[in-house]
Amino acid sequence: MVLVPGSFLEPQSPRKVPSNCFPRGGEKSCWRAETRRRAAKRKVLVFSNMASRLFEERDHAAFYQKYRFSPCEELQSLVFSYLEEKKVSSLQLAVDVGCGTGQSTKVLASRFDKVVGLDVSEAQIEEARQTHHPPNVSYIVCPAEELPFEDASVDLVTAFVAAHWFDIKRFMKELERVLKPHGCVVLSTYFPGTQVHYKDSSEKLTEIFRETWDLIFNYADERVNLVVNEYKEILEALPFQDKQRVTDIIDKIPLTVAGVIGYIQSSSAYQTFLKLDPEAAKSVLANTEQRLLEAMGVSSNDTQLEFWMRNVCVLGCKGS
Ligand SMILES: C[S@@+](CC[C@H](N)C(=O)[O-])C[C@H]1O[C@@H](n2cnc3c(N)ncnc32)[C@H](O)[C@@H]1O
Repeated sequence: MVLVPGSFLEPQSPRKVPSNCFPRGGEKSCWRAETRRRAAKRKVLVFSNMASRLFEERDHAAFYQKYRFSPCEELQSLVFSYLEEKKVSSLQLAVDVGCGTGQSTKVLASRFDKVVGLDVSEAQIEEARQTHHPPNVSYIVCPAEELPFEDASVDLVTAFVAAHWFDIKRFMKELERVLKPHGCVVLSTYFPGTQVHYKDSSEKLTEIFRETWDLIFNYADERVNLVVNEYKEILEALPFQDKQRVTDIIDKIPLTVAGVIGYIQSSSAYQTFLKLDPEAAKSVLANTEQRLLEAMGVSSNDTQLEFWMRNVCVLGCKGS
């Protein structure tokens, strides 16, 4: 890991969330503006040439299993209607690359004869294997750049919240090789601009969450720029003529305050922060929890709120 000189934890001035983020209409355009603003302002201060290895720790895998979400209903419908639209006739084999602890892999099980989740991290795959999964789902430890499948043998390749970690050039080559003619690919992620909603405190809660997230993002790997750019580069890199990018898929997730803190803990940026400065990292979390509770006017971190996340999805279909 290389630390850029003059680096980390520069104080950031607290940000005001534009109040027009909250009316019912116009949510999406406000979100887009906010993401662009963040991208322009943000400095990625920690770089790693071992980005694939940021998910190796067992504790991190356990956090991941506990606090990360499955692809939302809207995203799932988008994927399945895309397969119908592209007339993917055989639904034999789906491969979920960078499957982590399997949240994204399991949602494919009802549509395919066989689903294989693969991940470069042994710890993540071990967690995935230990959680309940349908009998047609299996998991293997393997890098995205060397897929263990024969040429033209896979109907669908997916990567949820994962493609930005891959060596994109090598992964795209593998994708082209393993997909059947007319096979499809789905590369999706959620990204900055999260909103936190609770009664009339939503604006304040969102501000608190984003301040913490900005701070922790100082420890993010440079590859998260692909996420901040909403996978535009990933769309460009996809070697198929037939491709598209869908933005603004919004997932409204019921979560407790403890769940919000757990979500932050499960990020690779927070895990890097924790390694470099454990005391500061823990105190940022404790402080964030305290501020959220105060803003909500409650004392229990089991109190439920709503966490709104934006997703982007790149879809593509291989030619004949
Ligand atoms: C943010 S997690 C996403 C997990 C899951 N798909 C989800 O939706 O929550 C990214 C995963 O990609 C894996 N990963 C990163 N680089 C990889 C690579 N080159 N090959 C395979 N997996 C990789 C990491 O180990 C990690 O488990």
